[in-house]
Amino acid sequence: MKRLNDLAIFGGRPEFHEPLHVGQLYLPEWSGIEAAFRGIFERQWYTNHGPLVRQLDIAFAKFVGVKHAVSVTNGTLGLMILARALEIQGEVIVPAFTFPATAQALAWGGLTPVFCDVDSKTHNLSAELVRRKITSRTRAIMGVHLWGRACAPDDLTSLAKAFSLRLIFDACHAIGCTHQGRRIGGLGDAEVFSFHATKVLNGTEGGCITTNDDILAARLRTIRSFHPSEEFAVVPLRINAKMSEAQAAFALLGLADVPRHVEANRRRYDQYCSRLADLPGLSITSYATGETNNFQYVVADIAPAQAGLTRDQVVEVLHRENVFCRRHFHPGAHRMPPFRNDDRYAGLSLPVTDLLCQRLLLLPNGATVSVEDVDRVCHLVTTILTGAESVRRRLEQQA
Ligand SMILES: Cc1ncc(COP(=O)(O)O)c(C=O)c1O
Repeated sequence: MKRLNDLAIFGGRPEFHEPLHVGQLYLPEWSGIEAAFRGIFERQWYTNHGPLVRQLDIAFAKFVGVKHAVSVTNGTLGLMILARALEIQGEVIVPAFTFPATAQALAWGGLTPVFCDVDSKTHNLSAELVRRKITSRTRAIMGVHLWGRACAPDDLTSLAKAFSLRLIFDACHAIGCTHQGRRIGGLGDAEVFSFHATKVLNGTEGGCITTNDDILAARLRTIRSFHPSEEFAVVPLRINAKMSEAQAAFALLGLADVPRHVEANRRRYDQYCSRLADLPGLSITSYATGETNNFQYVVADIAPAQAGLTRDQVVEVLHRENVFCRRHFHPGAHRMPPFRNDDRYAGLSLPVTDLLCQRLLLLPNGATVSVEDVDRVCHLVTTILTGAESVRRRLEQQA
């Protein structure tokens, strides 16, 4: 095990030669890519609702068990066009503890995000927290299935019904994850997935909106492009959010591999949990037994009083070892532009969000992270936290 003096921040050699990032890529076999791309070149049909995109829409709808899947360029555009397709105006209750796209997509869609705190255990919205934010201006609730954990769908559905609100979900983390044994995708009015290169289903970029609502699906498909053949509803505005054939080729190949990747992620996640189990002040977020998670995210909570170091100090030391663990999310969406500079959000108090923004870090996981890599990261974390007192003193001296 590396000793304290050997840590890169104190002059030693970095543990990893190459950067080890949090989201490691899930790539299809080269032979599959080659065959799919040969087909695209032979057909000379590269974009504009080609056969692979149509195939993906059908395959993804089947995968999640919904009527409609509408592929788009990326998850952000999916959220933006969903915000438009709802044909509402006013406020949408949304967590601030999320990727910036969640709330900013609402703003792009002409809606006003109202930030809500999250539950300290699930890191998600709860119906109780949301209820306190409902006013006469509220038109919708947007939950985020953070880390692939379903965001209180049953309670939020009842709440939305009671107040006649639309309910949508950012499911960008939730590919292959379940709620009550059924794959996430058919909850609320619609859900939005991301097929970004770091996600367990990699379309390089890409995303998909899923819904059981025929009218909403027609609006989404119309808003998604300017193509005359794709006009299924009367909509006030359209945009180019089409997925290309190249993206669809990656995503289709990746779809078949999701169960295999999830299983491998789970093994690495279990390895992290058992190797880091006894470290004071560090706990790994656990997922509901009886549900499927994609284990894309290994989320560590660093409690500074018990750990003897802050999350940021741990991150600083790991980065110098070329372990690019991420502070997800930091800061919360409410403390980022444009909301940070908007008087309407001045004085907003979201204590749990602010605490999580200071304490959570993501550890590397994904297809190209080996068992040995996890071992070496765990060794590093153990060295840092068992020598926390000394690490902190030396960091303070260096500052
Ligand atoms: C919670 C969440 N929402 C939205 C997005 C945006 O997705 P995309 O990168 O496909 O635009 C992401 C991306 O990581 C995300 O994590």
